[in-house]
Amino acid sequence: RRSVPISKTSISTMTNDEENAGTVKKQLSKLFEQSLRITVPSESDVEPLIAACAPKFGDYQCNNAMGLWSRIKNKKDNGFKGPPTIGKVIMENLPPTEMIEKCTLAGPGFVNIKLSTSWIAKNIQKMLIIGIETWAPRLPIKRAVVDFSSPNIAKEMHVGHLRSTIIGDTLARMLEFSNVDVLRRNHVGDWGTQFGMLIEFLFDKFPNWEHASAQAIGDLQEFYKASKKRFDEDPAFKGRAQQAVVRLQGGETSYRRAWAQICEISRNEFNKVYQRLGVQLEEKGESFYNPYIPGVIEQLSNQGLVEESQGARVIHIEGVNIPLIVVKSDGGYNYASTDMAALWYRLNEEKAEWIIYVTDVGQQQHFEMVFSAAKLAGWLPANDNMYPKASHVGFGLVLGEDGKRFRTRNTEVVRLVDLLDEAKNRSKSVLIERGKAAEWTEQELEHTAEAVGYGAVKYADLKNNRLTNYTFNFDQMLNDKGNTAVYLLYAHARICSIIRKSGKDIDELKKTGVLTLDHDDERGLGLHLLQFSEVVEEACTNLLPNVLCEYLYNLSENFTKFYSNCQVVGSAEETSRLLLCEATAVVMRKCFHLLGITPVYKI
Ligand code: ARG
Repeated sequence: RRSVPISKTSISTMTNDEENAGTVKKQLSKLFEQSLRITVPSESDVEPLIAACAPKFGDYQCNNAMGLWSRIKNKKDNGFKGPPTIGKVIMENLPPTEMIEKCTLAGPGFVNIKLSTSWIAKNIQKMLIIGIETWAPRLPIKRAVVDFSSPNIAKEMHVGHLRSTIIGDTLARMLEFSNVDVLRRNHVGDWGTQFGMLIEFLFDKFPNWEHASAQAIGDLQEFYKASKKRFDEDPAFKGRAQQAVVRLQGGETSYRRAWAQICEISRNEFNKVYQRLGVQLEEKGESFYNPYIPGVIEQLSNQGLVEESQGARVIHIEGVNIPLIVVKSDGGYNYASTDMAALWYRLNEEKAEWIIYVTDVGQQQHFEMVFSAAKLAGWLPANDNMYPKASHVGFGLVLGEDGKRFRTRNTEVVRLVDLLDEAKNRSKSVLIERGKAAEWTEQELEHTAEAVGYGAVKYADLKNNRLTNYTFNFDQMLNDKGNTAVYLLYAHARICSIIRKSGKDIDELKKTGVLTLDHDDERGLGLHLLQFSEVVEEACTNLLPNVLCEYLYNLSENFTKFYSNCQVVGSAEETSRLLLCEATAVVMRKCFHLLGITPVYKI
């Protein structure tokens, strides 16, 4: 037997010790940092290189010896003969710790680290007692803005906006879990020349516009398209539309009121989607930043950054062949002017240290130029590893099964509500096929169908590296085998049912039972659980939700392995194994929560 059960006293004092311990990787880094400083004092600036590794080597590896050797090999009397000798001394100089069971030297100088099994078990038990928050990563910032979803008023809210909504929500959730104060911003396109055209069109169509109800107005998208057509074909209308823009921006009451009404109608449509997806957002649309634009442009001009170019006012960015236009040749402002003002506002008024923009990759150049301009102005440090920082989170296209841009039958664009309806209905039919209609109440059926259907849509999107295009396929995402939300939700429900059927009071076990990890598959699962924190940290830092999906899928695989090789109920290790089941369920639920997926408990 390799592991030593921890004593009750050590559990009860666990709430106080190891405060701010951080991820396993960070804790190991701290230990190795101490050793490195004594091992080669002349190279005191080296950072410990610690990474999780393949099980045949150990749990983690320290990979500093080779780098250190290349730094000192030409120094006389450096005291070493090569990387392995450095590795050996690094090992010897490690401060005593209960965290490591043993280190071994491998090949060219790697230090393989095997964590203490009882230490892993103790940490899991601590999490069960204190709660999963104890595994929240610590990020070096207090406040972030996540600018996501951000559809355009009256224009279609398309699958691209759905991707932005799903990815942005997950990033916000991961940052919130990491104790960052997140300002979730919906930067809706609610300003611009299209409104002149649309309002003028609606005034013609509804002479009694002020009294027209949202119902009567119906689909704004259709009007938008029709007004655009008329704008392009009818010069007289075009003239009036341009006049309308001036009147709207000049603040003429009837135009302002029509604008506000149009925004309200669109907003109600957007909210239906957010409500279904369980996404919280605060709208601060383009119009919000309008009053700040002149001041910001003046400031940039005073800094000598704004130049005249073909009647427009622009900022030249080194290495980019087009300039960033901040004032158009007609004196009006544009998308970039608004983004400069918004960035200024978020940094100075909202005091955000990290500003994250989630849009399709097509806007990458726009954001790179905005960020470069902000660096020129001294708003952001030139070094991207420093805060405050701005990041563009780009994502690829959603494709249909024909490999072309995704469209649903009949319609030119995908109505998001229809898409969500279909996901829910399909998962409901599957549940009915399985006879759940007889077993469950209608409410349970609805709830599970929604959790599974919407969860499937979200997970199918999030599991891919966001930069790649992904193919939207209902059959695939609703499959209960393979890397899908359905498979994962069922796996979690199954664990819950194991615990339920044991007849044991799990909350009582948490307090009185002891977790050990004697079997290899128990230890493997336990280690994976403990790595949750560093995975969330990585997913946050690199803004990659797929990293968390991969972790969740592997967690479920690890659990399956454990469960098929270790009897739980009725075994001598029942208590410990039930605690391991519970810890797995807790971590899975947290993953679901971070991915915006509602867990189900019955299947
Ligand atoms: N409304 C824009 C679009 O639909 C996205 C806005 C993104 N955010 C920003 N601050 N520019 O393409």
